[in-house]
Amino acid sequence: MTIEPTVLAFETSCDETAVAVVRGSTVLSNVLSSQVDMHARFGGVVPEIAARAHVESIRSLTHRALVDAGIHPDDLDGIAATQGPGLVGALLVGFSFAKATAWARQLPFVGIDHMEGHLMAPRLEFEAFAPPAVVLLASGGHSQVVHVRGWGEYEVLGQTIDDAAGEAFDKVARFMGLGYPGGPAIDQTSDGGDPKTVAFPRPLRDRRYDVSFSGLKTAAVTFIEKAKSAGSLPPIEDVAASFQEAIVDVLVQKTFNAVEDTGVRTVGAGGGVLANRRLRQRLEEEAEQRGVDLYLPGRVLCTDNAAMIGVAGAHWLAQGVYSAWDSQVDTNLRLGA
Ligand code: KG4
Ligand code: ZN
Repeated sequence: MTIEPTVLAFETSCDETAVAVVRGSTVLSNVLSSQVDMHARFGGVVPEIAARAHVESIRSLTHRALVDAGIHPDDLDGIAATQGPGLVGALLVGFSFAKATAWARQLPFVGIDHMEGHLMAPRLEFEAFAPPAVVLLASGGHSQVVHVRGWGEYEVLGQTIDDAAGEAFDKVARFMGLGYPGGPAIDQTSDGGDPKTVAFPRPLRDRRYDVSFSGLKTAAVTFIEKAKSAGSLPPIEDVAASFQEAIVDVLVQKTFNAVEDTGVRTVGAGGGVLANRRLRQRLEEEAEQRGVDLYLPGRVLCTDNAAMIGVAGAHWLAQGVYSAWDSQVDTNLRLGA
């Protein structure tokens, strides 16, 4: 295997069908078909619909990814796919399609942990991003602060004890009638809002790295209900900005607690919530103030995509790490376990 293998990568863990071609850590193509419109009227992802939609679009997307990259299947060195965590039916589509394609072409195949994909995504944009590092991962299902000692050596320092950050955004946005997905809706709605309007709680202040968003979610819902019935609801952009600020505060604080405690000078970040403009701004400010290097990929590489699975796949394939032909999806895959 070359040190910069050309990898066809698949990501179908949730509601985006995504295919990419990556050479080493260079993106040659990165396409996706979002199912947002299909799930929006249900207010959340419907697993059965997600799996069916993946089946319908995966072949044409694969074709597009190869054409966009200017790569013939004969030029591929390997294939990678998300193995977990995620929705089992959704995962099965991409994983089985990838494995079958690899088998048919007799190419090495590797299954990738979705969260390792997010964790390695900064490599797609920053050559200098390397361990040791602290990485903040925040998505719809996870909120983790990870000490990356080496590639594959992940110590999860802290995580959510209840809801993930993305989940909190989604649930509160739904309650506020802002629609689905909620993160981008709150991000937008917060524009011009005053984050000091409502003093929402910053939970688990006493813990260095763990986070909790369930109480914050309840606090937001209770505040809105009470203020509405009292006829004293502040402008929606102020409430949204205040709620967003609470989540951002907590995530930034825990990340830099880990930076302080580990003494590392490299910070990475990934996952859909890192598309949040206020979070990005605050991480940048904090990193600059402390003089540490922040590797924060562009917003499209933070939300789910297959290029991040490709860069992780290329990394492991180059090391000779392959998955067995009888490997299966694993909805409970955990970083560092
Ligand atoms: O990583 P991701 O795309 O999918 C999962 O692995 O879950 O993350 C999706 C989550 C959703 O909860 C979504 O609301 C949130 O990321 N998200 C955002 C923003 N864009 C996406 N949260 C806050 N602000 C955003 N701009
Ligand atoms: Zn994700």
